[in-house]
Amino acid sequence: MESNNSFLVLFLAPVREYLEDDSISEILINGPQQIFIERGGKLEEVPAKFVSEPALKAAATNIAKSVGRILDEMHPRLDARLPDGSRVHAVIPPLSRVGTVIAIRKFKKDTLTIDKMLSFGSMDEDTVKLIRALVALHKNVIVSGATSSGKTSVLNAVSSFITDRERVLVIEDASELQLQQRHIVSFETRKADKNGQGEVTIRDLIHSALRLRPDRLVIGEIRGGEALDLLQALNTGHAGSMSTIHANSPEDCLRRIETCALLSGIDIPLAALRSQVASAIDAVIHTARLSDGSRKVVAIAEVLPLDKGEYRVRELMTWKTESVAADGTVAGRFEPGEPPTFAKEAHVVGVELPFGW
Ligand SMILES: Nc1ncnc2c1ncn2[C@@H]1O[C@H](COP(=O)(O)OP(=O)(O)OP(=O)(O)O)[C@@H](O)[C@H]1O
Ligand SMILES: [Mg+2]
Repeated sequence: MESNNSFLVLFLAPVREYLEDDSISEILINGPQQIFIERGGKLEEVPAKFVSEPALKAAATNIAKSVGRILDEMHPRLDARLPDGSRVHAVIPPLSRVGTVIAIRKFKKDTLTIDKMLSFGSMDEDTVKLIRALVALHKNVIVSGATSSGKTSVLNAVSSFITDRERVLVIEDASELQLQQRHIVSFETRKADKNGQGEVTIRDLIHSALRLRPDRLVIGEIRGGEALDLLQALNTGHAGSMSTIHANSPEDCLRRIETCALLSGIDIPLAALRSQVASAIDAVIHTARLSDGSRKVVAIAEVLPLDKGEYRVRELMTWKTESVAADGTVAGRFEPGEPPTFAKEAHVVGVELPFGW
């Protein structure tokens, strides 16, 4: 048995085989009678069942207990990371109408390296060259995409181009990134305890990080007001920082950062905020999960200065789908766009760019 998942296996015996199968990335339990798994990017229903709703609910409350949390009438939702790195979200009735609902995102022991992404066709050599150049030139990069499109995996791969000479401060809600450099200092947020005390947010950790002399900041995901703190940090130094955000396109990524910054509650005129976004963010790497379940970097865009108060981007690379087979398999290619405005800068410092730019 994989010791990695032993913790969950203890409570979730009916789905044991899926917990132990490394080809399965997620297990989705919708009440005792219906269970789906995700394998190779695709969802499938499996025959496994729990004997009853009380048995399933007991499993969920035991998982909560084992990580020092409560799941009951008063606390009907659980968001937890288990010691093995898996992420578990659970909701119990009556909030969930189908019985206890549990979603497990299994921890991937072997992270997706650039080489693996190349072999999966998630990017090509030119895309890698462009990403390497963005990191080497200390551009601030946001990886955007839909839920589960591969943002965190791409951020992890992008971060692999950071050199060992730099001091990198990593801040996450639940530690997923696996930076391998010599000088990494990682932080994880903390939820409030059952009395509502002791919460430490991404914003708090950004404040600490800025006092710890970072060369670069790597923030797992921007979801709220911390966007403003990050923008201010990026506009006052710390070039070469990176993060992810949920968005539908590179332009949408900039609008989402703006929306998140507004959630900070700090009053800042919209025009000023927009120019902060446009000057802080240099490039957006957009990811997507295609109809065949494959995940790809589908666009890399450079962020240009505002034009009459609106965001503008220049597409440096885009994925063009050329055909979709009957079984959903997607074929296409990565196409060059316009050369980046930093092409000259790259030549001066000897950083290689793709597409003969
Ligand atoms: N290029 C890829 N090829 C194959 N599988 C991938 C690829 N990228 C990510 N995955 C797998 O897809 C799942 C989701 O990936 P990841 O966590 O990186 O996505 P995400 O967009 O950050 O998700 P979330 O929205 O939950 O933060 C993981 O199981 C991961 O291993
Ligand atoms: Mg993620």
